[in-house]
Amino acid sequence: MQLTPKERLIVALDVDNLKEATRLVNQLIDYVGVFKVGAQLFTSAGPEAIKMIQDKGGKVFLDLKYHDIPNTVAQATKIVAKMGVFMFTIHTLGGKEMLKAVVETIATFQLPGFKPVPGFKPAKPLVIGVSILTSLNQEGLKEIGINRDLRDEVIALAKLAKVAGVDGVVASTHEIKEIKNQCGLDFITVTPGIRPAGASPDDQKRIATAKEAIGVGADFIVVGRPIIAAENPVKVAEQIIEEIRG
Ligand code: C5P
Repeated sequence: MQLTPKERLIVALDVDNLKEATRLVNQLIDYVGVFKVGAQLFTSAGPEAIKMIQDKGGKVFLDLKYHDIPNTVAQATKIVAKMGVFMFTIHTLGGKEMLKAVVETIATFQLPGFKPVPGFKPAKPLVIGVSILTSLNQEGLKEIGINRDLRDEVIALAKLAKVAGVDGVVASTHEIKEIKNQCGLDFITVTPGIRPAGASPDDQKRIATAKEAIGVGADFIVVGRPIIAAENPVKVAEQIIEEIRG
């Protein structure tokens, strides 16, 4: 996908309230293409958070990892589409029927005010599948009863998402090449667990730099704490954009 470094950077607004989120968006809007609203901010501020970002000209990645019976998820994501978000996540462990229900519901949308990335069709929100969280390693996977090799599990879930018509998946740097091989270059990869060289991994088990992620074919990278908890978020965002450009 042809994207500028700015369009590739997604900042996770993992904060407690709208005031804090607004402060970050005001600071970062010139440097960041997409802002991610996840469980923390959405639980506190709801659709107001989405509206705030859109009013300032930002695009929204709604990361609520929907996982329920097909009808419930389809109805919920219909509302997500109406809110004009740029991309959102559903959980691939919900199974093919759930994934297809969402894809079919979203396909009926052609949002009047929705601005897709230039050259990228169709003009509807991107549906992104979550497979295995980047905070889980092989041991953590075993604890929840999945004995398959972590990589194999991620690839299998990506292929399931592709078959169901999902636009792409969240994937760690280590899995991107194989996912693109198996699902095609157009299948979007969104990569969290990104850290500037030498920074703390926090609770992430599979981390990489922005340069590494883009180097292996990531379309978008997600950065949370390294930017939002920095003394100077703009400086870190600029550093990461330089790494993407490099
Ligand atoms: O602070 P940090 O950069 O680790 O934040 C990463 C963000 O990406 C968090 O908002 C987290 O919910 C999200 N994420 C992830 N791993 C996934 C899917 C989403 O870390 N597999």
